[in-house]
Amino acid sequence: MKRTEIKNLLEQGELGAQINVKGWVRTKRGSKNVAFIALNDGSTINNIQIVVDVNDNNSALLDSIHTGASLSVEGNLVESAGSGQAVEVQTTRLEILGKANPDEYPIQPKKHSLEFLREKAHLRFRTNTFAAITRIRHSMIFAIHKFFNDRGFYNIHSPIITGSDAEGAGEMFQVTTLDLNNLPKTEEGKIDFKQDFFGKPANLTVSGQLEAELAALALSKVYTFGPTFRAENSNTSRHLAEFWMIEPEVAFNDINDNMDLAEDMLKYLIQYALDNCTDDLLFLSKRLLEEEKNKKADERSMELIEKLEFVLKNPFERVSYTRAIEILKNSKPNKKKKFDYIIEGWGADLQSEHERFLVEKHFKKPVILIDYPKEIKAFYMKQNDDGRTVRAMDVLFPQIGEIIGGSQREEDYEKLSRRMQEMEIPEESMWWFLETRKFGTVPHSGYGLGFERLMLFVTGMGNIRDVIAFPRSPLNLEF
Ligand code: 4AD
Ligand code: MG
Repeated sequence: MKRTEIKNLLEQGELGAQINVKGWVRTKRGSKNVAFIALNDGSTINNIQIVVDVNDNNSALLDSIHTGASLSVEGNLVESAGSGQAVEVQTTRLEILGKANPDEYPIQPKKHSLEFLREKAHLRFRTNTFAAITRIRHSMIFAIHKFFNDRGFYNIHSPIITGSDAEGAGEMFQVTTLDLNNLPKTEEGKIDFKQDFFGKPANLTVSGQLEAELAALALSKVYTFGPTFRAENSNTSRHLAEFWMIEPEVAFNDINDNMDLAEDMLKYLIQYALDNCTDDLLFLSKRLLEEEKNKKADERSMELIEKLEFVLKNPFERVSYTRAIEILKNSKPNKKKKFDYIIEGWGADLQSEHERFLVEKHFKKPVILIDYPKEIKAFYMKQNDDGRTVRAMDVLFPQIGEIIGGSQREEDYEKLSRRMQEMEIPEESMWWFLETRKFGTVPHSGYGLGFERLMLFVTGMGNIRDVIAFPRSPLNLEF
């Protein structure tokens, strides 16, 4: 008999129909005469109740069914007598596909800490929390492609191995086929990269932006959505060594168009989650309330669905860096030295504590900060006439801090080339990037959305390692 997915059974199963379901046991309970098994196949957060009449033929089989076992069940879909579900399966045939020894299987039907589950990353998909996150993650990936496709953007696969440092930040993972125990040396005693795979040093990309710019200067509207790698040694709840980034790049867009696109996209994605991930969001909302029930009222986060709707309702506040510094300098936590990093004045780089203060305490809504000092931003950003700021934009979100970083790009050949020299970015490895400013240059803008930061916001989870299946962070490469 052909298998029916549990989601379909629960949503549109016909009463009386003969069906086959397959899945994993969440719980088993019952009496001498009847057993109840909650079965889940991942198609939905909801389980289907399997009812088995116990008799001499099947009691031994039933005894060997425990949480985590996989089953194939045939039976009739009937109205459920019990509360909690509308339909259930009255079993006619029961088969164990794979047993799970209860003394060894770690995912028991009780609350496990997220830290514990991270150490069981191979099995945490079996939990409601992680399965919900995985389904929402899929929906967000789909919605991102839909958003851009509906607006005439083209998706670009930017390379994963590069010979350049897109952000000029130098926190890259090197890729090599050289034998590290026996490195070839030049006459001066340096490593001879001519003998390496590419004949020169290579790295994992930190951003697909530079390549996206090349494509945008022909196709007008493009975006990348790929893995990016950063070897920054920041062991925080918001940083990964391997994360996914969405980077649109649009010819003829200025910074205001860029802000509009970012705000439209974030609101579209949040609305998409509310419309398409209801069951999973409701589950995560309850989880969050439960987790925070012992916190003081002013330390609790906003209820998840309410928080998502709140972002949809309000236009993001657009503020200059200079004004943000004034606000922060005069803020209570700064004066009382409550910030870890005290804001002394203009030029300071903002930490996530400052970003969150602006969003959560001052403006009480998402904020887009623009016109940052050029010293704290990347070389490619468009220089303002004041000579000291660039057309950068960071989108700041409650709970997250920076969720998007972007800018209008410097399209003037001379200005870009001068800035690269000032910042000691070698022109010989970036000549191709500069050439786009030589032939038919146009104003253009783009940004990068950190996909896992979006996932943190949409799911209300507190640690970025819980919104990606196999997180990579310093000293963490088990799965
Ligand atoms: O601000 P970033 O470094 O900007 C860029 O890479 C630009 N090239 C983007 C562009 O203009 N096309 O990174 C963009 C976003 C950040 O706002 C943040 O959400 C996320 O990427 N991000 C990280 N997410 C997880 N772990 C890390 N280590 C991250 N670093 C940045
Ligand atoms: Mg940034």
